[in-house]
Amino acid sequence: MPKTLIEPFRIKSVEPIRMTTRAERERLLEEAKLNVFKLRAEDVLIDWLTDSGTGAMSSKQWGAIMEGDESYAGARSFYRLEKVIQDITGMQYFVPTHQGRAAEKVLFGATCKAGDLVPNNCHFDTTRGNLEYMGVEAVDLVIPEGLQPALDYPFKGNIDLARVEAVLKEQGHRIPFGMITVTNNTGGGQPVSMANIRAYAALLKKYGKPFIMDVCRFSENAMFIKMREPGYENTSIRDIVKEMFSYADGATMSAKKDGMVNIGGFIVLRSEEWLDAVRNGLIMMEGFPTYGGMAGRDLEALAVGLEEGMEEDYLRYRLRTAEYLGERLEAAGVGFVKPTGGHAVYIDAKTVLPNMPVEQYPAWALCNALYLEGGIRGVEIGSVMFGKRLDSGVETYHSMELVRLAFPRRMYTQSHFDYAAEVIAEVKEKAASIRGVKITKQPKFLRHFTCECAWA
Ligand code: F0G
Repeated sequence: MPKTLIEPFRIKSVEPIRMTTRAERERLLEEAKLNVFKLRAEDVLIDWLTDSGTGAMSSKQWGAIMEGDESYAGARSFYRLEKVIQDITGMQYFVPTHQGRAAEKVLFGATCKAGDLVPNNCHFDTTRGNLEYMGVEAVDLVIPEGLQPALDYPFKGNIDLARVEAVLKEQGHRIPFGMITVTNNTGGGQPVSMANIRAYAALLKKYGKPFIMDVCRFSENAMFIKMREPGYENTSIRDIVKEMFSYADGATMSAKKDGMVNIGGFIVLRSEEWLDAVRNGLIMMEGFPTYGGMAGRDLEALAVGLEEGMEEDYLRYRLRTAEYLGERLEAAGVGFVKPTGGHAVYIDAKTVLPNMPVEQYPAWALCNALYLEGGIRGVEIGSVMFGKRLDSGVETYHSMELVRLAFPRRMYTQSHFDYAAEVIAEVKEKAASIRGVKITKQPKFLRHFTCECAWA
């Protein structure tokens, strides 16, 4: 039996990508003020900025798009997707939104108030942002193993149940519900075990609190459970997914991930309790309840995409691509968050640039170097993203300097990964010549998106 795990699809439609010269990339990056967010996508060869909404749709999805019913109220496409979501989640009430952060905003608007507190393994930026905007405290309680990049542990996304119970005991009156994010994006795309989900749900129940899951990458999480959690080896992905959802009272979803579509999201709820408030918010912010934030054709593409995202051959190949790049990095002596996550590899920039002071933003510098060397775009998750310049001019720095390479679904083949591995190894060889940066202009919030830099 040949052991190469191949892409389980063939390519029907192609989109050229453009090779640039090193001299061109130097000019383009200078023009972008040394910030890869400001590059034009067509000047990037391999775009691993995010796996969100960037994947390739299947011929079946494109076919479904032609069947979209664009009626304002009661469209056929809504009922088709509703049935798929009810079957997958076992929950009755489906509320479509235009993407994940809109689902968060609508749900939190209906259920939280200033002074509340929401525990999670790790809140994603927009989840935290939506809560904090309302004056709600977003508390991250991932297990200690989840905070050690080099530590190999099968379920680094698990929530720390002892700390959850302490918060429930001491702050219970402030808690509208508990959340968990699968997989844990902010913590490295790491999965949560079924045992952890089950125990967390039981704990919340004991204290009378509903359980909401952020399920952007639920299929990838289910595949990790199948591969790593004893007792699930022979369970189908669909049944694992069903069990995961069975513990929850509701979920928010960015369909741009495991929904395999370019835009879309939803809320799903088990009971009617919050439904009126949610639908009222939806109508104000997104749209009428049978389309929310999506066109009829988007609903159709998602109905197909959710099913395709749970196919085991696809998921096995998907998780293997990240693991494969990890093996190549290991061989090149480049450190990364271990084990590799579902949708991305997180390079530990301090292992490539051990001598660069944090004041010169090593992960940002590595991000720039990957673009200059090979036209690859990743995203810095370090002191530009999470540090701050205080009004006094003093800077705060992040504990980790990571570069996330996130993989769009069904888009890049093994030779793209081989090429990237070579580029990263070359960058490591030339580490002594990589230049750090200083920030010359920055906004007050979310500075990584728009800041301007110069060579340090
Ligand atoms: N929750 C998680 C865990 C996410 O990873 C994201 C998006 C969202 C919520 C928000 O969804 O983008 O549809 O509004 N993550 C993207 C990323 C942006 O690059 O990781 P959205």
